[in-house]
Amino acid sequence: MTNSIAEELGKKQRDISVAEFFERNRHLLGFDNKRKALLTVVKEAVDNSLDACEEAKILPEIQVQIVEMGNDRFRVSIEDNGPGIVKKQIPNIFAKLLYGSKFHTMKQARGQQGIGISAAVLYAQLTTGRPAKIWSKIAADQPAHYYELHIDTQKNNPEILKEEEIAWKKDTGVKIELDIDASYQKGDQSVDSYLKQTAIANPHATFVYTNPKAEQFIFAKASDKLPKEPTAIKPHPYGVELGIMLKMLKNTDCRTLQSFLTQEFSRVGPQTAKEICDSAGLFTNMKPDELQLPHVEKLVSGIKNTKIIAPSTDCISPIGEELLEKGLRKEISAEFYTAVSRSPDVYRGIPFVVEVALAYGGQQVGEEPVRLLRFANRVPLLYQQGSCACSKSIIQTNWRPYGLSQSQSALPVGPLTVVVSLVSVWPPFTSEAKEAIAHYPEIIKEMKLALQEAGRRLGAYVNKKRKVASQQERVNIFENYIPEVAAALSRLSGVSKEKIADSMRRMLEKNKEFIEAHKEAHKVEKQDKRSKEEQISLSGFEKDE
Ligand SMILES: Nc1ncnc2c1ncn2[C@@H]1O[C@H](COP(=O)(O)OP(=O)(O)O)[C@@H](O)[C@H]1O
Ligand SMILES: [Mg+2]
Repeated sequence: MTNSIAEELGKKQRDISVAEFFERNRHLLGFDNKRKALLTVVKEAVDNSLDACEEAKILPEIQVQIVEMGNDRFRVSIEDNGPGIVKKQIPNIFAKLLYGSKFHTMKQARGQQGIGISAAVLYAQLTTGRPAKIWSKIAADQPAHYYELHIDTQKNNPEILKEEEIAWKKDTGVKIELDIDASYQKGDQSVDSYLKQTAIANPHATFVYTNPKAEQFIFAKASDKLPKEPTAIKPHPYGVELGIMLKMLKNTDCRTLQSFLTQEFSRVGPQTAKEICDSAGLFTNMKPDELQLPHVEKLVSGIKNTKIIAPSTDCISPIGEELLEKGLRKEISAEFYTAVSRSPDVYRGIPFVVEVALAYGGQQVGEEPVRLLRFANRVPLLYQQGSCACSKSIIQTNWRPYGLSQSQSALPVGPLTVVVSLVSVWPPFTSEAKEAIAHYPEIIKEMKLALQEAGRRLGAYVNKKRKVASQQERVNIFENYIPEVAAALSRLSGVSKEKIADSMRRMLEKNKEFIEAHKEAHKVEKQDKRSKEEQISLSGFEKDE
């Protein structure tokens, strides 16, 4: 008797490890082409270094080196001065996908899924077969640990090729070195641009970067203050969906529904818990593990119908107006700068803050659209600009009153750099590659409000500048005609030509004083800009792109 088709198919069913899945779907993680792969590898490592330094309260000093080895092969190394990684964790962190410290913690960080750096290791292994090389040191008086690792993709487990203790001339830190297939190109989506933008949003960090052309750039820090440390919070009831609620009820140690609500969530006191239960038609003393699906459905809608105060915002750490402007000044040369930091708001129960900064005038020429720099949790977003909430909110803002031209559903045109930054416990990305922010109405609204505020300040500056320019023009014209006008008036009135010309000139002087005063103010801005340029000439970037 022959087997049925179902039986044949049944024999083929088996588990798929997450590593095998991403081996085939690496585009989901930002490895869809060689150029982007180079960026993604650097980005994952640098993001981790910044996160680790900040958690350890260390001002980050990060070295990025990319060496071209021919045939589209590059050796990428990233070294930090962070706390280091304990020996036992090294293999899992770098050679096991979905392993990390941030996924289960509700606070702002650059990483989320625990997939970043191991995906970079996987990509290296796939394209060059070379192992990842890792150095880690956790104390000045201890040796460093050195590892060479592969990923066993079938099992999603680390494979240790080499491990040893070595001397490493630094107190603490991590270094990773990967050989990858990639391609290097300058421009808006390059590693160069990523690091420059990272320096803008992280003015407390220093980067030393050697690109494949062996050019070295130093992005020096502009502040000795670490960002305020975000603290972990419990989930806010508004953000918890049915399935998560079921899981939480199953895992809790609390013995009543009321204590479950007050202890596992933020912003729920005994009174609020009671209101939730009343609204859901459930008893406060029910045992959490006794709740059946229909009860949980009621509970979730009970929460929706209860007024609960917004989540605490200790879990997020915005850049702040002063530092954001400082960061922008040190990396972008312009005439006018401004920054706006909004107060926190909430989407799906998750707190977030929007910040916006503008740099106007200077480098850009011609009728180019404004240059947009997008950030999520201080990480630059270089791809998918068109589908990002940042672009949408700029397009939906009317820039004409602020002195820029703009056609319908397009970015405004003018010599302007626009920074839009979102910080959140959980920035809603449109995909795992974390390239664009999803279109939540709450987020777009905040972005637009911030852009309008910054836009108004820009408008005041641009209009003042225009007024001064047109006044200057009028004065010049008038001055040229003084002799002729004076002669004509003298013929009509009989007063001497010289006398009339003299009083006309005095009148003009007054006007000029006004114009000079405004020009003076303008000059100060320009000088300021020049000294910044000198400062960053080290980084040699002001003429890039
Ligand atoms: N340079 C580093 N210094 C200290 N810890 C690190 C470093 N790189 C990675 N880690 C640790 O490894 C974990 C996994 O990193 P990763 O795979 O990038 O995931 P994620 O950043 O999303 O958590 C991080 O959560 C962090 O705890
Ligand atoms: Mg990471």
